[in-house]
Amino acid sequence: MNPYTPVSPQGSGDGRGSRLMHKLRELMPQRPRSESFSRFAGIEMIGSGCMGRVFRAYDASIGGVVALKVSMGTEPSRISFENEIRALSRIRHTNVVRLLDSGIFGDGIFSGRQFLVLGIVEGESLKDRVSREGRVGWQEARHMLMQLCDALSAAHEAGIIHRDVKPDNVLVSAGVATLLDFGVSQRMASKYSLWNILGDRFMPGNLDYTAPEVINGRCDGRTDIFSLGMLMRHALSGSPPDNAAWLFGSVMGAPQDPIVRDAGIPAEQARIIACATEKCMDRRFQSALEMKAAIGGI
Ligand SMILES: Nc1ncnc2c1ncn2[C@@H]1O[C@H](COP(=O)(O)OP(=O)(O)OP(=O)(O)O)[C@@H](O)[C@H]1O
Ligand SMILES: [Mg+2]
Repeated sequence: MNPYTPVSPQGSGDGRGSRLMHKLRELMPQRPRSESFSRFAGIEMIGSGCMGRVFRAYDASIGGVVALKVSMGTEPSRISFENEIRALSRIRHTNVVRLLDSGIFGDGIFSGRQFLVLGIVEGESLKDRVSREGRVGWQEARHMLMQLCDALSAAHEAGIIHRDVKPDNVLVSAGVATLLDFGVSQRMASKYSLWNILGDRFMPGNLDYTAPEVINGRCDGRTDIFSLGMLMRHALSGSPPDNAAWLFGSVMGAPQDPIVRDAGIPAEQARIIACATEKCMDRRFQSALEMKAAIGGI
């Protein structure tokens, strides 16, 4: 079996032996399967980030239209792709992008580059949506945030911390929010576990949405709750965060977040943002489902 084939979160009747094999496979660098570029047709670029370019393409092997993410061919993007494969092969959820396959191109313009085949989401990023419309109304935001809480809860259940929750990594389409980009995700494990020493080799991308504990590497599911709070603040206010100023304000005990106040965000929503983005992890919502219940209660 190709080690890069997605593994269902239910596993395959996992006994102790297969669990051990799974762990060993995870620690050993695997060689991705080589594939011909001719497998894909009708290629059209739909997005790009620091780690890869994303194309809409027809995949002859799968027999349908997919999102093809091709690596930049650099060492950071190789690590990011491996992280994404590790994470997505463990998570199966309606609000999380689906990993369908992965490999390395053996020919063509991207020869030697890794690729991921992802379920295509026909929609726009939340970032583009906010830039286009100014801000997201409460009813729609509420629905989307609850779905993102479910997505994070599924990731956390699978032992994965996303670590890069931000509006560019959320696609919205016909009322459905999909969480993408697990490139800097991390396994929930003790700081000194072998996996982390081998696997956690870089800091999350956009520090504006990132929780302060990321600096010393002590992340857990509550790290994603902080970022979701920052995303909520951005979506409801229309203003991208300036985390440095925000953290300074919270250290100084600023009574109210000026962006939240000036954008006229009602007190109940502002309280949720404040709780999710507490500097101290113990004072935040302790799980994504706890945050979901608070959002659903308004
Ligand atoms: N499955 C998908 N369906 C549709 N569009 C997608 C899909 N995956 C990614 N995209 C588009 O491509 C963009 C970049 O994807 P992604 O965030 O995974 O790349 P990245 O290089 O890891 O990003 P970053 O710069 O955040 O590290 C997304 O913002 C989105 O617009
Ligand atoms: Mg991204």
